[in-house]
Amino acid sequence: MSLQRITITIEDELLERFEELLERRDLGNRSEAIRDLIRRALVDDEIAHGDGDAVASLTLIYDHAQRELSERLVEAGHAHHARVLSTLHVHLDDRLCLEVQVLQGSPAELQVYADRLLGLRGVKHGELVLSSTEL
Ligand code: NI
Repeated sequence: MSLQRITITIEDELLERFEELLERRDLGNRSEAIRDLIRRALVDDEIAHGDGDAVASLTLIYDHAQRELSERLVEAGHAHHARVLSTLHVHLDDRLCLEVQVLQGSPAELQVYADRLLGLRGVKHGELVLSSTEL
């Protein structure tokens, strides 16, 4: 892999804040951090405009004692089994469960699926993180 050196122009204050962020979050040097930002922008663009499948992780924190919730989650998984590649389940305490589902499919379908699960009564928190295998 060959590397190119580029020069960018940036306001003092913006650079100062960026360097504080790198320091605080231990994100490496400027070049590494800027390469990461560029990769993230390319992945986001691929997800938004690409016609290929996305891969994703869907994290859910839910109360398994909520009436019918466990059944609804299992039914949703079976109804969309082609998209659910794997599931990790951890019992956090006497009520709460953490579940991570690894998904593959079109970004729009995965978003609809995630929104449905995240909207179920008893799901306390959760997030869909989309990624691309194209980069
Ligand atoms: Ni559990």
